[in-house]
Amino acid sequence: MLDGAEVAKHNSKSSCWIVLDSQVYDITSFLAEHPGGAAILLKHGGADATTEFNKYHSPDYVNDLPKRSHLGIINPATLGQLNAPKSAESKSSASADLNKIPHISLCVSATDFEAPAKAVLSHKAWVYASSSANTGLSLRKNIDDWSLINFRPRVLRNVGDVDMRMSILGHLSELPFYLSPMGTMGMIHSGAEPEMVKGAVRKGIHMVVSTASSKTTEQIMESCIEEQKWLNNASPTCLFFQYYIPVNRERAIALLKKAKAAGYKGIWITVDTPVLGKRTADRQLQAEEALSVGLLDVPPAREPGEENAFAPAFGGRAVPGQLSPHTTWGDLKWIREEWGGPIVLKGIQCAEDAKLALESGCQGILLSNHGGRQIHSAPSALMTLLEIRTYCPEVFGELEIFLDGGVRDGADVLKALCLGATAVGVGRPYLYALAAYGAQGIGRCTDILAEELATAMRLLGITSLDQARPDMVNASRLINEMWRPESPAVRSHL
Ligand SMILES: Cc1cc2nc3c(=O)[nH]c(=O)nc-3n(C[C@H](O)[C@H](O)[C@H](O)COP(=O)(O)O)c2cc1C
Repeated sequence: MLDGAEVAKHNSKSSCWIVLDSQVYDITSFLAEHPGGAAILLKHGGADATTEFNKYHSPDYVNDLPKRSHLGIINPATLGQLNAPKSAESKSSASADLNKIPHISLCVSATDFEAPAKAVLSHKAWVYASSSANTGLSLRKNIDDWSLINFRPRVLRNVGDVDMRMSILGHLSELPFYLSPMGTMGMIHSGAEPEMVKGAVRKGIHMVVSTASSKTTEQIMESCIEEQKWLNNASPTCLFFQYYIPVNRERAIALLKKAKAAGYKGIWITVDTPVLGKRTADRQLQAEEALSVGLLDVPPAREPGEENAFAPAFGGRAVPGQLSPHTTWGDLKWIREEWGGPIVLKGIQCAEDAKLALESGCQGILLSNHGGRQIHSAPSALMTLLEIRTYCPEVFGELEIFLDGGVRDGADVLKALCLGATAVGVGRPYLYALAAYGAQGIGRCTDILAEELATAMRLLGITSLDQARPDMVNASRLINEMWRPESPAVRSHL
């Protein structure tokens, strides 16, 4: 057992200890690797970091720390001797002054959740949620390309009743859109992913749960089952599991088994993330934090031949071992065998890879550039959808085709469906709604998108989604921008 006074002494980059759930850890050697930067750890040096830790990590993440870093248990009588964390953020959604945000009824578009979210989120959480890669070009393209598609409405068609239901991987959903996987929701709302699930269940829509969630895979599933008990949904919410393939094969298999045992109905393997993209705003923030704790005042001392002098992490890194740059198409074979259920590849960005996904025996592809957070100058999902229509139309009908990125209006969903998408993922609007209004916000955001979709269907002249067809949109402006293979050889490869 360790005394608080002893632990409190270890608050520097040469020796940094923290307390997590009454256990003391020496994290000195982890400082330079920490994906969230070294500064946040140093601010909790010699202190109880449990509250902050829980915002970012699932409880079982602590098992990933090397065994040797565990020093023992803190003497509960000496907790008062610990340092006070230096970083207590001024705002958290749990403690936010709710009077500062507008009444939820004033949110009438999916984009209306953004300003209230900014008002309640800490600066760090806001940067995490809103940031994108490099200059932000990929994110802007995601938003802008929706406006380049126009509808070709038909009139006088009796559009009194509309049916917006759609099946996703064999599971009926009340609506043709779902909640995209987003990691670390504990940073966004104290209820984290289970709060999001609650909102989804109440509206009968599905959700893809991130590997990088703040709660365990099991906790999130339990919250779904629990919430479902109170409802009698004709189409109960399904949870799918977004899978980052861990570098270590044993861990990778164990994670699949965990998701399967918990009852997830399919895996969505994120394939656009062999490494993390450059999250510019995160880096700026982490540099500011490093400066604030004096990490950059003194250049790291380097003796000749000394490679390991302290160099703090500046963000833009993944959790060690979580992303593998070595994964190939060949890995899908063992994943398929171990998983034994539906597989969707998340992050397909060209026609060739759509075709490979079909040949690899996947059930679906998600056209996505990760919300503009990965490669700079990425194609929008709409552009990829058009490319697939042109160069490998055989994929339609064989695979379920999802897309996400920049969907901010129910009419956008309809545009995607007209062009052959099965369903559409929505990310940030739900995140912002969660931040400001919790599960109620998720419900409200869903209602807004659903009403816009229903209206767009009626005004387009259709009453069910199987009537949505390519000739109901004019995509010529985007098609003009589409990539053309330079040589017939490339074209025949497609
Ligand atoms: C804050 C945040 C966290 C995300 N975390 C993940 C993740 O853990 N795994 C993943 O595959 N995609 C992740 N994404 C990408 C989303 O699943 C989705 O592709 C993207 O948000 C869609 O774009 P939109 O936000 O414009 O709707 C994240 C996106 C955001 C904004």
